[in-house]
Amino acid sequence: MTLAPEETIRVGSDLATRLSAGMVILLSGELGAGKTVLAQGVAKGLGVAASVTSPTYTLVSEYESGSIPFYHMDLYRLGGMDPFEDLGAEEYVHSDGVTAIEWPEQVRSRWHGDCLTISLEHLGGDKRKIEMAGTGARSNAVVRSYIQMFGESGGDG
Ligand SMILES: Nc1ncnc2c1ncn2[C@@H]1O[C@H](COP(=O)(O)OP(=O)(O)OP(=O)(O)O)[C@@H](O)[C@H]1O
Ligand SMILES: [Mg+2]
Repeated sequence: MTLAPEETIRVGSDLATRLSAGMVILLSGELGAGKTVLAQGVAKGLGVAASVTSPTYTLVSEYESGSIPFYHMDLYRLGGMDPFEDLGAEEYVHSDGVTAIEWPEQVRSRWHGDCLTISLEHLGGDKRKIEMAGTGARSNAVVRSYIQMFGESGGDG
């Protein structure tokens, strides 16, 4: 759980240290849940110099200034477009960087590769619940790295 946007940024930038090229992150959660804020944290953790904003009109933004490329998609305004035919989603999910996708349902229903799903949920005020789940070897290794960390520190966080 995070209590402020800055904490969600920190969660994202810590997550970035556990990621490697080719990984896909699906950001799930309602409007204003904090998906873009988390993506900003990931970008920060990857060392992206530019400020990351929601790619509202272009639907996808590419950032090359970090340790590995960062691709940020927001499919909320997909309209009648097809993420695979029109946006090249296939290339992004098999890319040389980290790809984070907001409103990923259309991609997920048609692509079943390894990805890390992060779900953000409003808990009122600035509180957000953040959960993650893996669906393959690489994403599950990321999830396990958190479980291990909490196990070793004996933390309750
Ligand atoms: N703990 C928190 N974590 C993240 N954002 C928070 C938190 N508390 C408050 N906020 C605020 O909530 C808003 C989250 O906006 P954000 O654009 O990240 O949502 P989103 O999930 O990307 O929404 P959309 O579906 O519209 O793209 C921001 O204005 C942010 O400042
Ligand atoms: Mg957003």
